[in-house]
Amino acid sequence: MSMDRELYLNVLVLCLLTWIAAADLPHTIAFKSGRTFRSSVVFPVAGNVYPKGYYHVTMNVGQPPRPYFLDIDTGSDLTWLQCDAPCTKCTPAPHSLYKPKQNLITCVDPLCVSLHGPGNHHCQSPEEQCDYEIDYADHGSSLGVMVKDLFLLRFTNGTIFAPKLAFGCGYNQEVQDTAHLPYTDGVLGLGLGNSSILAQLRNMGLIRNVVGHCLSRQGGGFLFFGDDFLPNSGIIWTPLLSQSKYYSLGPADLQIGGQATNVKGLPIVFDSGSTYTYFSSQAYNTLVSLIKQNLNEKQLKDAVEDKSLPVCWKGAKPFKSVLDAANHFKPLTLIFTNAKNVQLHLPPESYLVVTEQGNVCLGILNGGEVGLENLNVIGDIFLQDKLVIYDNERQRVGWAPANCNNLPKMDSGDFDLHNDAAIDGTLRDMCPARFRF
Ligand SMILES: *[C@@H]1O[C@H](CO)[C@@H](O)[C@H](O)[C@H]1NC(C)=O
Ligand SMILES: *[C@@H]1O[C@H](CO)[C@@H](O)[C@H](O)[C@H]1NC(C)=O
Repeated sequence: MSMDRELYLNVLVLCLLTWIAAADLPHTIAFKSGRTFRSSVVFPVAGNVYPKGYYHVTMNVGQPPRPYFLDIDTGSDLTWLQCDAPCTKCTPAPHSLYKPKQNLITCVDPLCVSLHGPGNHHCQSPEEQCDYEIDYADHGSSLGVMVKDLFLLRFTNGTIFAPKLAFGCGYNQEVQDTAHLPYTDGVLGLGLGNSSILAQLRNMGLIRNVVGHCLSRQGGGFLFFGDDFLPNSGIIWTPLLSQSKYYSLGPADLQIGGQATNVKGLPIVFDSGSTYTYFSSQAYNTLVSLIKQNLNEKQLKDAVEDKSLPVCWKGAKPFKSVLDAANHFKPLTLIFTNAKNVQLHLPPESYLVVTEQGNVCLGILNGGEVGLENLNVIGDIFLQDKLVIYDNERQRVGWAPANCNNLPKMDSGDFDLHNDAAIDGTLRDMCPARFRF
């Protein structure tokens, strides 16, 4: 115990120095005075829908803490890092592999039980390690062992604290498309299960089990844990379906340009680990034909040679940005029918991308082709330039239009985006659609 404490203090000093030296946040956050006991944590986000295909945050993990890039995924629970345990199959990563200390979680640990589900859980002996295997719907997977280590967190009340959290040490990762690897060190699982680090932080009394993200169309944005600075108004809330493993909302009906369609009653899941949105086959086919009907064939021609996405068009001249192409398309609206006045408004720039070849492509894909069956998975492309909040305390998800280029200011306890700190979201390596789920 006392050893731990000493270590913690050393870590704290080290981290303070690192943080001051690094000064990687070019903005000032005005901290709210300690009105509430529980506080929040805010992280700057990097990445984009295209060409990167994912958004990530930097987490500082270990003793001493080292930075790791983690893919933000509200479609799965488990956080994991590529890990030198030793690694039998790791993918190229921005940082060197996480080296576990002797901090194994045992098979009888409640976290291990909730990870596997009580029914599927068998321990040969109480000292046995807690193995995990997680398979994503994009056919990627991670296999490893559960460990505990310190996560350095800077709370919005000014406190820096490093709670010991359980996560996966992944020593065998499979990816679907080796030509387009995600360039991260692991995944930040923000689902609603008990094994997520959100639930762990909640059980330690540090935060409320609330997570929000604001993903900018220009790249970057921010992520937060906790409910400290939820806006008092302006958020549209819709209840989560109970008994779901995912953030499931719905059913929802689809409108195009304010007109009803026969795409109705879609079960919806929100998943930030998915780059694009996936509609079930029937909904997808109807939507694509409706979009095509609405296009002016003189202005837009099919661009089958552009392999960035399945459906692309070229204009008279190459498009420079998605706003350039948006006026050829109509807005979409998802109308959630089990709540009053709950709609997700999607201007064309929330479902289109402009590729490096200057074509405009549809960022909605056929989920039937990748085995998602009836589910309609709302990915990053639909969630851009919105504040999206997953509130596990009150089993609801909410959203509001937002400017995600600036970190929130927290002095008023209110969400306030009048801050000129731009977050660097530089576009780099090519990476296509991925979805984690
Ligand atoms: C999560 O933990 C809570 C409280 O410990 C428990 O009531 C609930 O059944 C758990 N849920 C799952 C899916 O394990
Ligand atoms: C700040 O928040 C953290 C996390 O909730 C809490 O542990 C700590 O006591 C708070 N500090 C102050 C000074 O209120």
